[in-house]
Amino acid sequence: MYSDKVMDHFSNPRNVGEIENADGVGEVGNASCGDIMKIFLTVEDNVIKDVKFKTFGCGAAIATSSMVTEMAIGKTIEEALELTNAAVAEALDGLPAQKLHCSNLAADALHEAIKNYKEKQGE
Ligand code: FES
Repeated sequence: MYSDKVMDHFSNPRNVGEIENADGVGEVGNASCGDIMKIFLTVEDNVIKDVKFKTFGCGAAIATSSMVTEMAIGKTIEEALELTNAAVAEALDGLPAQKLHCSNLAADALHEAIKNYKEKQGE
């Protein structure tokens, strides 16, 4: 039912944790299941240097959180804003149809963290 990549990121999630004094923090909840994802960013010279996440959610939510952190590190703020939920699901070689809503959290939490970063910068 799940791709090898989903199973890999679920069993061995990358970049789990928190960043103290993060440059941006974003949190989103999934209304349909109540799961929550929080993303922390470190930004230097407009480039995302580090991303950590905490997800209270299902396996697919954990796998997409893990994948989005890997995809975001090294990207500029503008590039990271273009990362979509669909791109995250695609990078995991897809998700079962009934779990596609779980990938909605990943890019949304990242975008919220970027919004928070921009607010802190006074933009
Ligand atoms: Fe809630 Fe997957 S069931 S995010």
